[in-house]
Amino acid sequence: MKKITAVITGVGKYVPDFVLTNAMLEEMVDTNDEWITTRTGIKERRILKGEGKGTSYMAIKAAEQLLQKKNLDPKEIDLVIVSTATPDMQAASTAVYTATQIGATNAFGFDLEAACSSFLYGMSVASSYIESGRYKKVLLIGADKCSSMIDYTDRATCIIFGDGAGAVLFEPNEEGLGLQDEILKSDGIGREFLQVKASGSLYPVTKEAIDKRENFVFQDGKTVFKNAVFNMADVTVKILERNNLSNENINWLTAHQANKRIIDATANRINLDSSKVMMNIEKYGNTTSATIPLLLADYEKQLKKGDNIVFAAFGGGFTWGAIYFKWSYNS
Ligand code: UT7
Repeated sequence: MKKITAVITGVGKYVPDFVLTNAMLEEMVDTNDEWITTRTGIKERRILKGEGKGTSYMAIKAAEQLLQKKNLDPKEIDLVIVSTATPDMQAASTAVYTATQIGATNAFGFDLEAACSSFLYGMSVASSYIESGRYKKVLLIGADKCSSMIDYTDRATCIIFGDGAGAVLFEPNEEGLGLQDEILKSDGIGREFLQVKASGSLYPVTKEAIDKRENFVFQDGKTVFKNAVFNMADVTVKILERNNLSNENINWLTAHQANKRIIDATANRINLDSSKVMMNIEKYGNTTSATIPLLLADYEKQLKKGDNIVFAAFGGGFTWGAIYFKWSYNS
């Protein structure tokens, strides 16, 4: 019997209509377009507006686009995973609600939270279910309404984050395509440098916490930046070495979009030409769990069957990793 590998067979995306530009942020906090552009590469981000719209709103839209593109009956889906750092609410899973709303009535669902590495970790989990032969169709959605946890008076964070969602379908393959290798890492030393302090069981949201603005993201940007540059490049180099890959036989670097300088640093470490580096941070900013699937959606038409892709991410926690993946279709 041939070995079963896990491939991505379809991609969908959704970004909200509202565009928050650097010029608009200049009116809100003490910042300027030049600083934001040179320090981060971001020009604008999308923000989800409107009452009653949470992360699931975008997850559903991205999944529906995928279902439509693939002409797939949602009843065929076995499992829905929503990778997110901003679930609709505590306890009631965003993935479960999403599955029901898209008509995936035969699927079970759960959320997966690993900050900006949520989607990368989700790729590993989805692939494992496929490789084991247990399930045939796993829908992995990366979605975050980052604006729900951002303090728009804090210039250190409000210029970075945006909202969005991307969805991919994982299915079995017998040609050896899809996920080839992974290095996933985490280190709890990172907790103090990137967190929403009042959001869980340790420090529940109280009036005092809100008064201290502890219900918003806090980030020690410099420390996170240093760790991101070192660790993302480190796992990328290691996964290349382990698989006898070089800059010549890699077709794409698909890296979490947190800061253009972090992505450039990783590409430089492996001498990868910028034409092979997927980039859309200028349009969407850091959408946390959605950056990687949004890249796949934006670059889908350029991807060819057999392309060697290296995925990489770094995020809060700390969490990070790299995945070596062979693309499986031409669109
Ligand atoms: O998504 C996963 C995890 N997140 C990340 O990977 C993000 C990692 N961190 C970063 O991307 C960067 O650290 C930031 C973009 C957040 C900040 O860039 P930086 O080059 O590390 O700037 P900094 O925090 O060291 O600040 C440099 C200067 C400071 O002024 P002084 O002390 O040199 O006078 C800041 O006060 O820039 C100032 N500054 C700003 N100026 C204009 C900080 N934020 C802003 C701003 N506009 N928005």
